[in-house]
Amino acid sequence: MAKVTIDGIQIDVPDGTTILNAARMIGPDVAPPTMCYYSKLKTSGGYCRTCLVEVTAGSEKDPRPMPKLVASCRTTVMDGMVVANNTSAKVKDARAGVVEFLLLNHPLDCPVCDQAGECHLQDLSYDHGNYKTRTDFERRTFEKIDIGEKIQLHMTRCILCYRCVKTAEQITDGRVHGVINRGDHAEISTYIEQAIDNDFSGNVIDVCPVGALTDKTFRFKSRVWFTKPVDAHRNCENEKCSGKVVLWYQGEEVLRVTGRKDQWGEVEEFICNTCRFDKKQTSDWTIEGPRKINRHSVISANHYMNMVKPKEFKLNEIKQITE
Ligand code: SF4
Ligand code: FES
Repeated sequence: MAKVTIDGIQIDVPDGTTILNAARMIGPDVAPPTMCYYSKLKTSGGYCRTCLVEVTAGSEKDPRPMPKLVASCRTTVMDGMVVANNTSAKVKDARAGVVEFLLLNHPLDCPVCDQAGECHLQDLSYDHGNYKTRTDFERRTFEKIDIGEKIQLHMTRCILCYRCVKTAEQITDGRVHGVINRGDHAEISTYIEQAIDNDFSGNVIDVCPVGALTDKTFRFKSRVWFTKPVDAHRNCENEKCSGKVVLWYQGEEVLRVTGRKDQWGEVEEFICNTCRFDKKQTSDWTIEGPRKINRHSVISANHYMNMVKPKEFKLNEIKQITE
């Protein structure tokens, strides 16, 4: 075990734990934000630099500070390590710079983007970004591409986090897309816009932190905060599929089906395309109950429990009171 202190809070964690996971064990107030790391995907992380932290003491044996900020998702703890995340002015400054960098090419079209309300970049920029941009050159843009019948890629919004590439590599049989080119020219592509055609391809929609990969069966049907999320499951015939999902209702209609996400916004278990795209009837599912959504999320807006409405007065009653 290793003893590590993050933002003044001490915790013992197994050797080999990353700083990020140690911070997550302490809790969300201490955990650095992530845009590319994904706990369910091997070798994820190390691309976005959102999770940078300051190591003010390397270890018990060598307590010198690390000379540069480090990516917490890729750096393992050492016994006696002391880390500053929210308590470091350097981290705050660097993180604001990372947000600015991620937004260099990302369009500021949240009002019309399908991901609004559940976009990690939107949350990140509100929490850590600067209030104005210094960008005065044209952002790079791409045509929308259909990746198969059900998924649309809008590369203009991609932040090159590689999550979808790793999902396709690790969850599906045979990846046919990846990142081509480098630097400012880098883009996600299927090379010849080949359809990603396998049972688990829809998971790229859930792992995409922005609105670059979206569900064509749901696009522009509703804003997510107007829908009602409900936990449901079915005995899926695909043995690799958990069959545990969230149904997003509007009235009686299931507008979309997604995997269930944990407190870090990462899917708990991957689901197959049949559950995601073909089971949109309530009768297909065993309903478990309303999905618990963090109360700070816009998705929770207007969903009040045990609400007591103030009495509504009639006009003559108001007149009586005011006279
Ligand atoms: S399409 Fe989405 S998941 Fe894939 S690299 Fe871009 S931002 Fe990441
Ligand atoms: S989350 Fe650590 S570099 Fe992206």
